[in-house]
Amino acid sequence: MNPGLSTRSRKKSQEWFARAQRSLVEGVNSPSRGSAVYSHGPVVLERGNGSHVWDADDNEYVDFMMSFGALIQGHAHPRIVEVVSEAVAQGSHFAAATSAETSAAERLLGMVKTAEVVRFANTGSEATMLALRLARAHTGRTKFLKFEGHYHGWYDPYLLNGHSHPLDQLGSKENPARIPDSEGIPAATFEDVIVAPWNDFAILEPVMKRHGRELAAVITEPIMANMGCIPPRDGYLEKIRQLTSEYGALFILDEVVTGFRYAPGGCQEYYGLQPDISTFGKALGAGFPVGAVAGPRSILNRMTWGDKMVLHYGTFNGHRLTMKVIAANLDLLSAPGCYKQLHAVGNSAIAGLRDVFRRRRIKAIVQGFGPMFQIYFTSREAIADYRDYCTFVDSQLYSRFVHSLFDQGIYMTPSNGLHWIISTAHTSADVDALVQAADRACAELA
Ligand SMILES: Cc1ncc(COP(=O)(O)O)c(C=O)c1O
Repeated sequence: MNPGLSTRSRKKSQEWFARAQRSLVEGVNSPSRGSAVYSHGPVVLERGNGSHVWDADDNEYVDFMMSFGALIQGHAHPRIVEVVSEAVAQGSHFAAATSAETSAAERLLGMVKTAEVVRFANTGSEATMLALRLARAHTGRTKFLKFEGHYHGWYDPYLLNGHSHPLDQLGSKENPARIPDSEGIPAATFEDVIVAPWNDFAILEPVMKRHGRELAAVITEPIMANMGCIPPRDGYLEKIRQLTSEYGALFILDEVVTGFRYAPGGCQEYYGLQPDISTFGKALGAGFPVGAVAGPRSILNRMTWGDKMVLHYGTFNGHRLTMKVIAANLDLLSAPGCYKQLHAVGNSAIAGLRDVFRRRRIKAIVQGFGPMFQIYFTSREAIADYRDYCTFVDSQLYSRFVHSLFDQGIYMTPSNGLHWIISTAHTSADVDALVQAADRACAELA
């Protein structure tokens, strides 16, 4: 692609979006895809190949959103296309035992060393839903702790303090205001939820001292990925591990975003963690819908049929087509050098962007490392937690920046709460295109 090419008319995108308003709520299937985020209406995408996508007007973009991180192999990877074509011709799903699900499970367990068994569902939300049910059954406790600004899918009890709000609405760190993310959830649901700020050692100890013995679980993202990209402070995740063990609560590591992205075994391998339950999704399915809960038999076997079982049904669980994709995807990710390349490409994009902001004297930081990062327009040196994000980040400016990138052939969501994704399909030419486009976008911002 010529990075100098400016992307031009989006007339057909606008026509499709106008038409979509008549049949779809807000013209989309998730609020993160519509006018709430895309100020001129969404770019309507029609096809993708490798790291590139084309919109309804046939404009070409380098895609750094990658289906919110699901497309770890990029678009239409030849091996995935081959596997899907073969599998669909044989029958996409039987809702019965298949060899495909065992092959997928074996590969997953070969990579996620902390787990003995896995259960497949269809989305990350289903996985975190099941994880909580298992934790409650295993411990006989109902309460759990989630952190401010962490997103674990759209299951009722998780929808507390997940969106950003002005600082004056947040309450104190010691006693955060409890702000539901959705209508339609009974207040009683939240009675079982303890909310605490993340990445703060001084808060964690007293909160655990106060509530630890009544908690079924503490759930956390290893890298806070729904306020952009906020890595954990050194030793913070280890502290959660230590305190949950001390108080008899389970440690649920939500690796729906980070799983299979930073290392073959996800962030738990990268940081050397031993969670009780891990949840996966996104990159595991390489673009196909999947969720997974993995952990020791002593916990997951509670789903075994019988009295006092933990129920988990699902017509599409272990979907044959998806299981075939997972096996192929994990084989590709197991190739020597794969993660080294993901990190190298990501780090060169990060370095290039930092250089642009420095040269253009724009107050912006690029936070994260390797395959996932986010840009924050801020005068801070780092955004360390949810409250920093709510207070010090200029998300409007970020949105203007990304909208300007659309005209330079770069596709990304204008939502500052998400993150840039590197897939195995991204090349140094894509990074060059991004850096040049960012440079031009910065000139427009000035
Ligand atoms: C950390 C985390 N957990 C769970 C989910 C829910 O996954 P899904 O959208 O597949 O339901 C998400 C989705 O973005 C997520 O970021």
